[in-house]
Amino acid sequence: MGKYKVVVTGRIMPAGLAMLKEHCEIYQWEQTARPRVADLSEWLREAEGLFVSTNIPVNEELLAVAPRLKVIAQPAVGYDSVDIPACTNRKIPFGNTPGVLVETTAELAFGLLLTAARRIHEGWDWVRAGKWQPGVLMPFGVDLYGKTLGIVGMGAIGSAVARRAQASGMKVIYSNRKPRPDQDALKAEYRLFDELLAEADFIVVLTPLTAESRGMFGEKEFAKMKPTAYFINAARGAVVDTQALYKALAEKQIAYAALDVTDPEPLPADHPLLTLSNILVVPHIGSATTETRNKMAMLAAENLLLGLAGKPLVTCVNQ
Ligand code: DGY
Repeated sequence: MGKYKVVVTGRIMPAGLAMLKEHCEIYQWEQTARPRVADLSEWLREAEGLFVSTNIPVNEELLAVAPRLKVIAQPAVGYDSVDIPACTNRKIPFGNTPGVLVETTAELAFGLLLTAARRIHEGWDWVRAGKWQPGVLMPFGVDLYGKTLGIVGMGAIGSAVARRAQASGMKVIYSNRKPRPDQDALKAEYRLFDELLAEADFIVVLTPLTAESRGMFGEKEFAKMKPTAYFINAARGAVVDTQALYKALAEKQIAYAALDVTDPEPLPADHPLLTLSNILVVPHIGSATTETRNKMAMLAAENLLLGLAGKPLVTCVNQ
């Protein structure tokens, strides 16, 4: 039997590539710019599998030029850029990679919180700029110990952030559509969204991007937060109204923001957010460790190979 024809939309971690190479003829986009459908359409016409390593919209336009697709796999847990009903209508299973990135993403979210609170990145800039002089103090940070962390979107990653916060002496509250049945085991208290906004000293956003959560942090929500609040987004940029966040930070309605994700993404170097002194931004690196990215690539490759063989995927959004 010949090899499966598979389109890969960008770079892929070696462990995943090796798995695919055994069974697939690979058509890989190697330029750094994100491909458009037109760039891939010749390959997609024949493709049986699509491996979305560089995030591109998987929508009607793409699916229409790929009539032979049997499966799509993406090494990511979030699938907000994928039209799942359109895939389902065409009986194409879509596999994501939940689970394998939980601890790594929680480390980054908590790392952002700690770095912002203790101004670690500002201290480094201060030292490098030669400002470490006797009697000259850089701005002080704030303690985590004894403070309240509010987690918006308490799933597996939220629970892993909660454990880290509790180990640092923080109280954890959370807001979801409804209370979790295991909240006692999590040692976290449920709050309505507005209650959480008013009570939390640190807010960590981990909710998936959906029609409901798009723009859920706007002017009204920032106005409900404490003026000392730290806002950390490790979910998706579009959960936040960027303009409203800029205003809240510029007018000191809240104290600080630390973002792993932004809207737009990538954030242009001349974006107004980057002119503020009370913000820390990193380039969407929540799951970006070598170990975890290899695990994600391997799980996505496994999903792809199973789908090509007509078998159920290990982790599938629409099966
Ligand atoms: C995910 O897995 O969804 C991460 O945000 C990487 O895109």
